[in-house]
Amino acid sequence: MRIDIITIFPEYFGVLDVSLMGKARQSGLIDVGVHDLREFTTDRHRTVDDTPYGGGAGMVMKAEPWALALDSIVRADGTSTVVFPTPSGTVFTQRSARELSEHTHLVFACGRYEGIDARVPEYAASIASVRELSLGDYVLNGGEVASMAMIEAVARLIPGMVGNPDSLAEESHEGGLLEYPNFTKPALWRDREVPEVLLSGNHARISGWRRDQQIARTAAVRPDLLATEAEDAPEPPKADR
Ligand code: ADE
Repeated sequence: MRIDIITIFPEYFGVLDVSLMGKARQSGLIDVGVHDLREFTTDRHRTVDDTPYGGGAGMVMKAEPWALALDSIVRADGTSTVVFPTPSGTVFTQRSARELSEHTHLVFACGRYEGIDARVPEYAASIASVRELSLGDYVLNGGEVASMAMIEAVARLIPGMVGNPDSLAEESHEGGLLEYPNFTKPALWRDREVPEVLLSGNHARISGWRRDQQIARTAAVRPDLLATEAEDAPEPPKADR
């Protein structure tokens, strides 16, 4: 997979050199390019923003530098997907991460200030597939941190990235439930015992206990996920109704 990032703060993305992402880049599983939006300006001051039409606080990112950047980075064969991280987008979930992980070229367009001129995502949609995605119901200073979170969630789903693929299948949000609690040695630590079932060696009991824990935890802290899981479940056969 190729990932391109357009930003006025390329230095934010230095962390992509470390940990799993660093290894994935070295091994060639992921190829990352970071581009400074100011390189696509044409004036002496390298201006990327201007005052909003209609008035109001803050500055808006100008359309033309974005268009020039997208023109040079988006692939002509229509295989690119441009992601605009924005608090006004649809919420980014594990499902979005899985969907994006199946693409061959992602371009993250990191806005700042009060956002990007609204014609830019429209223009991007004329040359690529576009997603406007929010990390959640809170406001960050720009798209950089949101892009980083999305890139990590997407990249670890690419086959070969995470050592043991089973660990992906069992974790929170895969399968619509939160993860069960995990324990490691010692079995007794500061007067706290590991649940007896986990020491039993009985795999059927362990699976049942873990499933119960997942349901109880999800019901307690994220009942909304149980509602979604019910909606997503296949219809029971007619004879059962
Ligand atoms: N940019 C600013 N806030 C954001 C958010 N919540 N999600 C994605 N991008 C953002």
